[in-house]
Amino acid sequence: MTQVRLLTEADIPACVRLKDAAGWNQTATDWRNVMALAPDGCFGMDCDGELRATTTAVCFGQELAWVGMVLTDSAYRRRGFARRLMEHALEYLRRRSVGWIKLDATEMGAPLYERLGFREEGGIERWIRPRGVVPDGPSSAGLFALDAALDREAFGADRSPLLHMLAGIESASVAGAGFAMGRPGAQAAYFGPCVARSADVARDFVTWFLRRHPDEDVCWDILTANAAAVRMARELGFERRRELVRMALSGVNHVPALKKSDHLVFAPAGFEFG
Ligand SMILES: CC(C)(COP(=O)(O)OP(=O)(O)OC[C@H]1O[C@@H](n2cnc3c(N)ncnc32)[C@H](O)[C@@H]1OP(=O)(O)O)[C@@H](O)C(=O)NCCC(=O)NCCS
Repeated sequence: MTQVRLLTEADIPACVRLKDAAGWNQTATDWRNVMALAPDGCFGMDCDGELRATTTAVCFGQELAWVGMVLTDSAYRRRGFARRLMEHALEYLRRRSVGWIKLDATEMGAPLYERLGFREEGGIERWIRPRGVVPDGPSSAGLFALDAALDREAFGADRSPLLHMLAGIESASVAGAGFAMGRPGAQAAYFGPCVARSADVARDFVTWFLRRHPDEDVCWDILTANAAAVRMARELGFERRRELVRMALSGVNHVPALKKSDHLVFAPAGFEFG
């Protein structure tokens, strides 16, 4: 029986093939970033001489871990690969005494996570804006400066290492009011993460990003709980394409639920990061 093993940089081409076959928007750089943030938390299974399944677990300190990139080659599904990888990842996170484990589940993944004890926390929607005329007007978005306190208030854990990593790609801030980032995607430029104290500031960030990508489709994931973000996406010409479920599992006993503020989260960092 094939064993679970750690993924390394050498696996990136095979990882990219798996996510391409699933039609996902991540790039080779996204895979590289997950592996750089979680060198001990990216797992794979081989069969017939090739990588056939993956699962990643990125830790934000001991408070929270985010599971992602749960993929099985379509010809190798229903053999228990995803379940074994998930069980391996959960065991790894329990050994690290992680308080909470979360993920964004597709319809295909959700039944497996439910059986492993994950419970629904809320909806998360993927919106796409086909390339076209971008809104003009002034924008308050300026040079990026990390506001770790605001991010913790919004997200519920310290994700500074992730934010430092993503800030080098594309980022902007409004002092004391929020920040936004973006990165290339395989099908659409990816907007996120974005944390903002008001919808007006968030709108400045979205238009900042749209103006930087006038000739590309733009992808924006939105927490259903953030009604202002959903309204804004519709007003700015985005279309809802997919609906997922954010799920949570208590890792070590008696850790209270993390305090987060969904109304400040105008875009998550990605399904692989939270
Ligand atoms: C979701 C996904 C990762 C599951 O991968 P998988 O390796 O097929 O998963 P498993 O085999 O561990 O379990 C899946 C199902 O097969 C069943 N199964 C496992 N071994 C089996 C076997 N020997 N015979 C029959 N069924 C089996 C499991 O009970 C489970 O049942 P379910 O269909 O009722 O959920 C895979 O379908 C996939 O890559 N989908 C596209 C990407 C995606 O949506 N990923 C999830 C992101 S959150």
